[in-house]
Amino acid sequence: MIAPVAAHRSPAAPRRRGGTALLGDLLDDAERRILASRQADLWKPWVARADAEEIAELVLGRTIGDDDLDQPLSAATRRRLQAMFQRRIDGEPLAMIRGWIDFRGLRLTVRGDVFTPRPSSELLAIEAIRRLRRRRRPVAVDVATGAGPVALAVGDAVPGARVIGLDIAARAVSLARSNARRLAVGNVEFRRSDMLAGLPRPLRRQVDVITFHPPYVAGHELKTLPGEIARFEPVESLTDRSSDGLGLVRHLADEATAWLRPGGWVLVEVGPYLARSATAVLRRGGIRDLRSLRDGLAVTRVLAGQAP
Ligand SMILES: C[S@@+](CC[C@H](N)C(=O)[O-])C[C@H]1O[C@@H](n2cnc3c(N)ncnc32)[C@H](O)[C@@H]1O
Repeated sequence: MIAPVAAHRSPAAPRRRGGTALLGDLLDDAERRILASRQADLWKPWVARADAEEIAELVLGRTIGDDDLDQPLSAATRRRLQAMFQRRIDGEPLAMIRGWIDFRGLRLTVRGDVFTPRPSSELLAIEAIRRLRRRRRPVAVDVATGAGPVALAVGDAVPGARVIGLDIAARAVSLARSNARRLAVGNVEFRRSDMLAGLPRPLRRQVDVITFHPPYVAGHELKTLPGEIARFEPVESLTDRSSDGLGLVRHLADEATAWLRPGGWVLVEVGPYLARSATAVLRRGGIRDLRSLRDGLAVTRVLAGQAP
């Protein structure tokens, strides 16, 4: 990947040499249009350039460097590039365009009908791994597992753990299972389940860590989401349709202590704006010593607390 460009040009349209567009100019143009798109959800402006470059690398099938920027492109390559740039400008997440995402070193397949994992959820996995490594033959449950990023990262990093990923959507469970098979992570199983209902009863008061990245957008806020999220993610992965977005956090708070060992951990990923209210919900469910954790991205918070 070329480093974010400080001194790039912003032409109105890609320049051409002898009727052929140069890669650098196409990249400049794509960057400008991704940045201006009302559909794309960029957590930092430089992501527009990084996305354009990664799309170009996908289309060209190789890494591009500074020397490539002045290279003329054939008309066919230019058309393929512009079609792919347009998908990003229209809000399609980069991971969906390429069909995979790297999460804690694991290459996960993503699909349009299952929530696309975000790098910001790595914090949830990291905090779970830290706590599980201290325990002998621990049990971890990842509720709302989606494509399985957190469950698989935990299983991969703590081979002695038994990890169970749960999701209400059959297509999420099927994708998570196929990710587990392809990555040969053998200590993670996935089950279709409404919250914790599908856990085997012998696991009551045996679980060391529950991780949860819930759909936390309030029902009435759905219409305010950027197109990249609203149009490309399944609606049940975004909202539980409650008025505050915390319906499923309340559900977890009601059930978690029945499954956790004494001193077992609940880790919940939410938007920073929900950290206080979600903490109050978990406290009312009997979870103790709650704290709010953040990483360098600071896009989300992970609330961490323990069962009595
Ligand atoms: C925000 S996504 C998180 C997916 C995954 N953990 C990740 O970080 O990529 C929320 C997930 O919750 C699942 N979900 C929604 N309601 C649920 C419920 N009642 N019980 C279990 N899973 C649920 C959705 O199918 C979706 O996969």
